[in-house]
Amino acid sequence: MNALEAKLKRCNPDTLKLIVTDGIFSMEGDIVRLPDLIRVADKYNATVMVDDAHSIGVLGKNGSGTVHISGLPIG
Ligand SMILES: Cc1ncc(COP(=O)(O)O)c(C=O)c1O
Repeated sequence: MNALEAKLKRCNPDTLKLIVTDGIFSMEGDIVRLPDLIRVADKYNATVMVDDAHSIGVLGKNGSGTVHISGLPIG
């Protein structure tokens, strides 16, 4: 999160910013800390896109993925 925030700080505040992350990182099985990521994204007015290829069908209620297990609304 610190590395991400350092990068966002260097961005022009008027530009569109898109943060793309894996839901589960396939090499180690780490799960994204989505609430923390969204907090940082909101601070810098950035949009978050989650590639949940390794999570959909595996994690969360009915396999709904990392968004669901992070306690965030799905929509
Ligand atoms: C995070 C993630 N998303 C998507 C894919 C699928 O990639 P592709 O469409 O190139 O097969 C992979 C493949 O392993 C992946 O690790």
